[in-house]
Order: sequence, then structure tokens, then C-alpha cells
Amino acid sequence: MSTAQYFPGLEGVIAGETAISTITGGLSYRGYGITELAAQSTFPEVAYLLLYGELPSAEQLADFKAILHESAEVDTSIIDLIRQVPLHVSAMDVLRTGVSALGHFDPQVDENTRSANIGKTVRLLAQIPILIAARHRLRQGLPLLQPDPANGFAANLLYLITGQAPTPVQERAMDVSLILYAEHEFNASTFTARVVTSTQADLHSAITAAIGALKGPLHGGANERVLEVLEEVGTPDRAETWVRQALAQKRKIMGFGHRVYKDGDPRAVILRNYCADLARQAGDLSLETIADTLERVVREEKKLPPNLDWPSARLYKYLGLEVDLYTPLFVASRVVGWAAHVIEQSENNRLIRPRSQYNGPEMRPYVPLEERG
Ligand SMILES: CC(C)(COP(=O)(O)OP(=O)(O)OC[C@H]1O[C@@H](n2cnc3c(N)ncnc32)[C@H](O)[C@@H]1OP(=O)(O)O)[C@@H](O)C(=O)NCCC(=O)NCCS
Repeated sequence: MSTAQYFPGLEGVIAGETAISTITGGLSYRGYGITELAAQSTFPEVAYLLLYGELPSAEQLADFKAILHESAEVDTSIIDLIRQVPLHVSAMDVLRTGVSALGHFDPQVDENTRSANIGKTVRLLAQIPILIAARHRLRQGLPLLQPDPANGFAANLLYLITGQAPTPVQERAMDVSLILYAEHEFNASTFTARVVTSTQADLHSAITAAIGALKGPLHGGANERVLEVLEEVGTPDRAETWVRQALAQKRKIMGFGHRVYKDGDPRAVILRNYCADLARQAGDLSLETIADTLERVVREEKKLPPNLDWPSARLYKYLGLEVDLYTPLFVASRVVGWAAHVIEQSENNRLIRPRSQYNGPEMRPYVPLEERG
């Protein structure tokens, strides 16, 4: 008889150690509070911090950005592959395939040293925006664009997809969303990446698997479902009735609740201010009003605060982005958090192999095929 305790969904279980981020005492990356990072940093600085453990000096940051820029070229055969995927396939599925395919062209794919893993991560960081934009623009029949070295990471990401240079407010909003999405300790996709790494498989395998885990609506896929909710509500005057009915029908409202934040997701609080700025800039506050009503009622009725996907969906809508790009944009940022965990896991590895509690049939005699009814 086993004395081990079983926690469904591993809720509350400490499944490993990490020095990358913690939610204890407020979310922090490598010891820096998320509020300060969102207010003062940029996504490339945060990516450097997550990968190397320290904030970069001005010179290190300039080098890092230069390498990112030099690495932003995807082999044409991968673009051809993307071109051939049927049009109904989601952007997230195409990105999963694209990232897996990038591994075939990476000169260090099977090297698992720290420097090889950092090299591969930098290439993924630089090339994932190209894959996302390529799928989007090929599907729309639009020409593909080249990143502009004068642009920052967030501005290029928006430019490559939309073909428009963002305003400074738009660029900053995108940058902050990338900072907030970059890392979140042992969430489902990061844990997936660590499980794959624990078998000594390569970084591209771990990241491809993590993308698969992120896609689900209970995790990263929620940001796309949030916009569907807002669109279903339609107008501010319908919001209160809609949400009360949805809750009465026991519907899950996407963008609310969190496994580890029961009192509120600090990232959602930060990003909502950027939503309000963009809505004011666009001169249309209707989505903000709908969101406020839903937040108030869900809190009143279920005591559930919104999570990061709640404001990010509106933010991406204000930035003129198609809904099926929202979870791929999460990947564009989280890839660096996953990679930091891949590196940490491989440097202090123990195969992740938990046990299960068996609830199947008792041991029984085998019945030969000819005797089965
Ligand atoms: C994130 C999530 C999976 C966390 O789940 P969890 O820790 O397993 O929480 P539980 O499912 O145990 O939820 C506790 C209670 O709140 C309810 N609840 C949780 N999230 C809810 C939501 N978004 N809308 C309505 N009710 C919700 C559950 O139904 C449950 O109610 P009950 O006690 O009456 O059965 C869950 O909150 C969810 O599905 N949210 C929507 C998807 C989403 O936004 N995901 C992104 C997360 S960053």
C-alpha cells in the first residue's frame, strides 16, 4: 500500500526547483519585480535577463539585439512548407510545425551545451516572428516583409505582420505584453518543456511540445477565446445580462481564474492600463466598458479575478491583429522562458517520471482470442 499522496492536476505540488522566476512575494523574473520590468524594461532586455540570469549592460544589449537581427532569416524551404499548409489550419498549428522544422535547419540542433542552447534560443526568438508573419501574410495573399534593423523587437513583430509601423504607444503596449508573457515558473507548457528536456531530448523538441501544451484553451489558447467572448457580448448594454446568464449556465468565462493566483494576476492589472490607453487613442471605449462589467460581475458572483489573457486579447485587437495570431504571439515571447527552463533542467537533470494511482481492473487471467465472446 503506497503512502504517497495524490493531488489531481498536481495542484500545490512542488515539482522542481528554479531560479528563473517566482510568484511568491509578487511575480519576479530572476529577482526583478514584474511591475518594475514592465515599467522600465524592454522585451529584449527581459529575454537577456531570463537567458543569462542578469540584466544586460548597454553594450551587451546592443550585441544581443544585433545578433537577434542577424538571425532573423528563415530558410525558404520552411516558407514553402508554410505556403503549402491548407488554409483552414490555425496559425498556432502552423507555428508548431514551423518551429519543429526550424530544428532541421539548425546547425546545433543536437548539441545540448549551454552555449548551443542559447544560440538556438536566439535563433528561435528571431525567427518565430518571421514564421508567424509569413503564415498570416501568405494566407491573406500579401507579400512577405523584411525586419527593419532600425526597429525594436516589438515594432518589428507588428510591422512584419501588419505592414504598418506602430505608433510609440502601440509599440510600447506590445513590448509590455511580451515582457508579461515571457515567463511564469512551472505552468503547463513550461513543465512540458522540462519533461521533454529531462529525457535528454533537444531544445527544439522541448519547445515544439511546449507549443502544443500552450495551445489549449485552459492555458495560452485562452487569449483567443477571450476575444470570442467579447465579440459574443457585442455591445456594452448587453454585458451585464450576458455574463449573468453565462454564469447561471455554468459557463467558464475565458480570461478569468488561475491555478496559482487566487487573489488576482498582477500581470492583468499592469496590462489593462495599456488597453485603456489604446482604446482612448482609437476613440472607442466600448470594449473597455464591456470588460469592466464582466470583471465586476465575475468577481461578485464567482470571486474570480481576470488573468493576463483577459487584457491581452483586447490589447491585440486594438493593435489590429487577427484573433488566431494571439496565442502565436504568446509563443513569440514565452519561447525565452521555456528555453531558460530547458537550460536549467539540462544543467541539473533528473528524469521526470512520476507515478500514477491505478484505478483499473484487478489482475485477471488472459483469455485467448478464440475464447473471447
Ligand atoms: C485557469 C483555470 C483552468 C484554473 O483552474 P483550476 O485551478 O483548476 O480552478 P477550478 O477549475 O478548480 O475552479 C474553481 C472554481 O471556479 C470556477 N471557475 C474557474 N475558472 C472559471 C471561469 N473562468 N469562469 C467561471 N468559473 C470558473 C470553477 O468552475 C470552479 O467552480 P466550482 O468550485 O463551483 O466547481 C480556470 O480558472 C479556467 O478554466 N479559466 C478559464 C481559462 C483561462 O482563462 N485560462 C488561462 C489561464 S492563465
